[in-house]
Amino acid sequence: MNQNEITSEILRLAEERDALILAHNYQRDEIQAMAHITGDSLALSVEAAQTGKSVIVFCGVHFMAESAAILAPDKTVILPRLDAGCPMADMITADGLREMKSRYPGVPVVTYVNSSAAVKAESDICCTSANAVKVVASLNGPEVILTPDRNLGRYIAAQVDKTCHFWDGYCPTHERFTVDDVKKVQADYPDALFMAHPECPPEVLAMADHICSTSGMYTFASENPAQQFIVGTEAGILYRLRKENPDKEFILPTTRLICPNMKLTSLEDVLHSLQTMGPQVTVPEEVRIPAKVALDRMLAVPRD
Ligand code: 13P
Ligand code: SF4
Repeated sequence: MNQNEITSEILRLAEERDALILAHNYQRDEIQAMAHITGDSLALSVEAAQTGKSVIVFCGVHFMAESAAILAPDKTVILPRLDAGCPMADMITADGLREMKSRYPGVPVVTYVNSSAAVKAESDICCTSANAVKVVASLNGPEVILTPDRNLGRYIAAQVDKTCHFWDGYCPTHERFTVDDVKKVQADYPDALFMAHPECPPEVLAMADHICSTSGMYTFASENPAQQFIVGTEAGILYRLRKENPDKEFILPTTRLICPNMKLTSLEDVLHSLQTMGPQVTVPEEVRIPAKVALDRMLAVPRD
């Protein structure tokens, strides 16, 4: 079967199975083209929580499918590739977080959604890159623990009037992106605006014209009159940026900005998952309930 035939068969089976197919903005082009809904972590969590469908096929990485399973326990959640993990999420464990909490008694914990269900369950509230500053600002008290991303943590800390304690995690994909990469591309495209994801290292963020989540980049690129944009996040975002702005130019500074985990899922994997209704992602109730409290608190923080 060619790609079009596989896509048609996926969509036919999705209808038959009452399934909603979600894809993160970093997925392969053909996965984004086939999915019912594409978006950033926040938008996809909201879709998972609200959908009337009985099955969610999550084209993304493990923590995203787990979030869907936490928010929608009555639904079957499928992750077509169980081996699609997130190295940043694996940099913190529930035991590690408990140990950190014991060093800062009573200080609220804000955990980036790029984390396991067990770590969310140990946290007071979650955040994504789209709402992190608002989430932290919504908390009372002069101190906060921010996990697991030190780069997102420092980005938040610069914008809130609180003492922040960071977990030392990071995204290996964004961490590979350097000041030299930006300088080289800026020399070739002096008029281009530089948009960067808060997972980038602080010295790279310091060079950015605009810092935002993946979905924030779609809004910025379409609303800003500039013609050229340097894209400081994972390569998968280029698909929709170029599709929605055919007259504008988007430049990826380095091919090191590719997340191998986000690229694992193929159309064949999605088809197979709908044929077999697996692999399914579930979260035990004793973890799911406290993790859902942290996610629900995040979802209750007003969005723009
Ligand atoms: P957002 O979609 O929240 O911007 O996510 C970035 C990310 O790294 C997901 O793995
Ligand atoms: Fe994890 Fe980074 Fe890949 Fe996102 S891009 S899934 S944070 S490794």
